[in-house]
Amino acid sequence: MNEIRIVPMDMDSDLKEISSWDKKYKGNPAYESIIHFILEDNQYYSLAEVIHVNNVIYQIGEDETKHTFSVKNNEDELVGFVLATVADLNTCDPFMFLQYLVIAPEHQNKGYGKQVLGELLKNPIPYFNAKPTEAFAYIHNDNFHSMKTFLDMGFDLKGMGNSCMYRAIKQMPNLELDKE
Ligand SMILES: CC(C)(COP(=O)(O)OP(=O)(O)OC[C@H]1O[C@@H](n2cnc3c(N)ncnc32)[C@H](O)[C@@H]1OP(=O)(O)O)[C@@H](O)C(=O)NCCC(=O)NCCS
Repeated sequence: MNEIRIVPMDMDSDLKEISSWDKKYKGNPAYESIIHFILEDNQYYSLAEVIHVNNVIYQIGEDETKHTFSVKNNEDELVGFVLATVADLNTCDPFMFLQYLVIAPEHQNKGYGKQVLGELLKNPIPYFNAKPTEAFAYIHNDNFHSMKTFLDMGFDLKGMGNSCMYRAIKQMPNLELDKE
């Protein structure tokens, strides 16, 4: 079994590696769909730029709810990343928004995506210092791979009117903050 580690992203080496994906996976349909999904949403021109901006917003304290993690396998390879927003504890209804969970094309279908979801759902406090009551993500209605991954991890899919997106939602177990 390939074990993963979810660690704060190294904004030098990890980001440099993600920048290299454009060349490495050029023409790869799985990569095209990642790019389509993220860049269309954000209107940026590269994955690395989306991650960099997300991290700067967090670093300057503009939005401390934004988190950027790398996913490493047991050979310490960067196999993916997560951008997540977790509301602070003062809000009435704390939530975890999994904005982007991305596993690199060559590492997909090895169980990493489910492991990341499983870990963040089971154990959010060390990652976010918060105990969200609900987790959610948005999934394009033609993204069957993602739907299967989230459904298998206990999310429900809800339609969003005429939108081409589903909202994947899961209630989180009741966690004790002092179990850190
Ligand atoms: C969605 C994503 C994170 C899944 O990561 P992953 O590491 O491949 O996921 P896993 O290997 O843990 O599980 C994938 C499951 O989907 C299944 N699957 C793969 N392609 C599929 C398809 N076209 N249709 C249905 N199921 C599919 C796999 O067989 C596996 O199920 P299994 O364990 O029963 O065999 C990854 O595909 C990805 O980065 N996609 C692009 C970005 C994205 O859409 N992110 C999600 C929204 S934030």
